[in-house]
Amino acid sequence: MTLRFDSPGHGYDISVGRGLLAEASRLFDLNRKVLVVTDEGVPEEYSRKVLDQCAAGSLLVIPQGEGAKSFATLETILSELLRLGFTRSDAIVAVGGGVTGDVAGFAAACYQRGIDYYNVPTTLLSQVDSSVGGKTAVNFMGVKNIVGAFHHPSGVLVDPDVLDTLSPRLFAEGMAEVIKMAATLDAALFERIEAASDLEASLPEIIYNALKIKLDVVSRDPSEKGLRAVLNFGHTIGHAIEALGAAGRQFLHGEAVAAGMMYTSEGPARPRIEALLHRFCLPTSDDYSAGDLMRLAVSDKKRHGSLTRLVLCDEIGSYRFCDFTDAMLLTLIQKRKDEK
Ligand SMILES: NC(=O)c1ccc[n+]([C@@H]2O[C@H](COP(=O)([O-])OP(=O)(O)OC[C@H]3O[C@@H](n4cnc5c(N)ncnc54)[C@H](O)[C@@H]3O)[C@@H](O)[C@H]2O)c1
Repeated sequence: MTLRFDSPGHGYDISVGRGLLAEASRLFDLNRKVLVVTDEGVPEEYSRKVLDQCAAGSLLVIPQGEGAKSFATLETILSELLRLGFTRSDAIVAVGGGVTGDVAGFAAACYQRGIDYYNVPTTLLSQVDSSVGGKTAVNFMGVKNIVGAFHHPSGVLVDPDVLDTLSPRLFAEGMAEVIKMAATLDAALFERIEAASDLEASLPEIIYNALKIKLDVVSRDPSEKGLRAVLNFGHTIGHAIEALGAAGRQFLHGEAVAAGMMYTSEGPARPRIEALLHRFCLPTSDDYSAGDLMRLAVSDKKRHGSLTRLVLCDEIGSYRFCDFTDAMLLTLIQKRKDEK
């Protein structure tokens, strides 16, 4: 299954299918110098499989985890490109989750003002979300994604087989993002997940459809000026939940988004979203006070003046933007807490 992303001056294919890792050289131009960047937590067989298909490939293993999205890692990748004599016609292949894709993509955006890179996402979250859209970044001075660039990959290869080695918790985290997109933008996909008795068999199709949603939103709002904000469903309060639990690493990002969605879903959509989140053992509540959640939610960088824009979902497959004053937001959070 192949999707195409076209933006002015740049287009690329996103190929989805089991076993595709063995076909990287058919899908990507690996007939040049290639630096395969992976992280130490990704099973080595995946990067090796890509490396074996490169005419002149080198491997670079970076540390795993959010801490690796740093200037230090960026410098490591850039040093390696320089040491190996990469020119503007050479390329990077990122084999890993969103961390590897974001930092390797940013290195590709910076080196000689931009070289090609390909994404081989290996977590569910990166397969349905971070590997497409062209956002690359590192964290700086404790602020997430604050230094980065829009730089689209030249191709994306999504092989659901690599998810076999992913922990159930990380798999569920990716499902939270799929549920988020389906709930607001694709009722048919939401119903398909609800009805799926054998998720394993439906997985390639679910990933394909989630990617289709993301690409459609990105192509209609490439520089993130409006519509793309729909992808923030669950995120504003989710970020607050994530930040409050950060010290004890209580919630992964996707888990916090799952709990965050419960604050901003209403009507008939609400019980259906809750049931699906439960099915993947994702949290649907948190223990933080309304005041603490409110304080962190209003510090979200996507705030509009004195208003916080939330994405609300009342009916599966639909959404609306709603601007909340601080008082309205506190009332909403408290109301949800009282309902629990
Ligand atoms: N660029 C974007 O548009 C965008 C969108 C969403 C998220 N992100 C970013 O993505 C990052 C999170 O990505 P993530 O959730 O993929 O986390 P991650 O990249 O940290 O991967 C999670 C862990 O899984 C391991 N891993 C990866 N693939 C594996 C596999 N197949 N089997 C076993 N282990 C595997 C990794 O080594 C890592 O320890 C964040 O930094 C976030 O900001 C970017």
